[in-house]
Amino acid sequence: MPGQTEATPLGDYLEIKDSRTGKTYNIPISDDTIRTADLRQIKVKDDDFGMMGYDPAFMNTASCRSSITFIDGEKGILRYRGYPIEQLAEKASFLEVAWLLRHGELPTQAEYDQFTQDITYHTYTHENIKQFMDGFRYDAHPMSMLTAGVAALSSFYPSAKNIHDPREREIAFVRLLAKMPTIAAFAYRHAKGLPYVYPDNALSYAENFLSMIARMSEPRYEADPVYARAIDVLFILHADHEQNCSTSAVRAVGSSHVDPYSAVAAGIAALYGPLHGGANEAVLRMLQEIGDEKNIPGFIENVKSGKGDAKLMGFGHRVYKSYDPRAKIVKKLCEEVIKVSGSTTKDLDIAMELERIALSDEYFIKRKLYPNVDFYTGLIYRVMKFPTDYFTVLFAIARTAGWVAQWEEMLLDKEQKIARPRQVYTGAAERKYTSNLDYTRRVE
Ligand code: SDX
Repeated sequence: MPGQTEATPLGDYLEIKDSRTGKTYNIPISDDTIRTADLRQIKVKDDDFGMMGYDPAFMNTASCRSSITFIDGEKGILRYRGYPIEQLAEKASFLEVAWLLRHGELPTQAEYDQFTQDITYHTYTHENIKQFMDGFRYDAHPMSMLTAGVAALSSFYPSAKNIHDPREREIAFVRLLAKMPTIAAFAYRHAKGLPYVYPDNALSYAENFLSMIARMSEPRYEADPVYARAIDVLFILHADHEQNCSTSAVRAVGSSHVDPYSAVAAGIAALYGPLHGGANEAVLRMLQEIGDEKNIPGFIENVKSGKGDAKLMGFGHRVYKSYDPRAKIVKKLCEEVIKVSGSTTKDLDIAMELERIALSDEYFIKRKLYPNVDFYTGLIYRVMKFPTDYFTVLFAIARTAGWVAQWEEMLLDKEQKIARPRQVYTGAAERKYTSNLDYTRRVE
């Protein structure tokens, strides 16, 4: 290309001249990226630590090489192992996608049947888990309960610490996928003051989850097929999303070689935040706060003025600078579920009007703020009568598939070590300690 320096035996490289020393350095480029470790050679004095890259919130830093999920934020593309999310959401099942994320290929019928059977027969949890659930207040947030419940699994499966044993990783993958819905459902039933419902091995993954949530005295719960399919599709859409906040937390905690249950518990805690997975809950609260379409212009003005850090929850994304492809699918699913349920479309009408206004407003256009996966998701969960504070729990069940796939990829990546970033120190220089306290004084 004109103006591009010819590739040398070095291959492509960045030529850096340090104005402090006049020295020039050739930093190799691969995959449009440089290794920041290659900057360490840039020094003023020989005993300097060397040049670092500074990138708060990792806005422009690749933490790993991964082949699991591909996102093109400008084009609104999302693929799991090369398969477009639109095709997987339309035709696949969540368990098929969970297999794909971890193994890199779609399962054969025999692999899928065995995997489904393994998941089905590991849905029960140790009976003591129920006692943990009972220990929470009736109004405990279910994400707190899920974080604690999954962390507790680590104590029931001490052999999971053998993370270099493929069989231990396999059974941990199955147990986490199988038991997340059970623990999540226990948290739901605890909040409702209802008896826990045990897994029903005759049901599919989504049907069994809905059964543990909603079954009362009937011998077998009959899930609405539209709801069961909607849950399965939403789980597919939320299954992975490359190096998002919670996945980065799982990778960082997992890099200390802790067991996968503890690493996934860290991911659940990260997902709980309102800027991340907690946004679907925040969207519903926002729609309820708006209450009527006539209040939308005033709300939008509040957001634009930055009053009280008001945000248009469910809008914006670190990577997508166009419509989140998942949001398009969720929006369509939302209209289908609302139609089937016969629910009022008031909140959906507010959401769609909010979207229409925002997408034509310069503030949002300039900042490339579009609906993300969380904008319409909560509306579906609301129609299914899940409490608002439960929405992120549903996100966590699905993301378990991605978290474990990413955790294992990190573990098997020969370049990965314990995650330990550096810092730019801005604190006090050395100074002599002189206490302000009189330790001889007896406290009465
Ligand atoms: C998820 O990373 C992932 O992949 C996450 C996820 C996944 O699948 O794992 O996709 C799931 O977490 C989706 C995001 C859900 N969160 C929300 O909907 C919360 C609302 N959105 C924002 O908080 C925000 O958009 C983030 C956190 C999602 C992204 O923030 P960035 O990339 O750090 O962008 P930013 O905060 O620097 O914003 C850039 C500008 C700022 O304005 P200026 O300072 O330039 O004037 O856009 C503004 C922000 O104030 N802005 C918003 C806004 N989001 C950003 N203004 C109003 N409403 C918003 N929602």
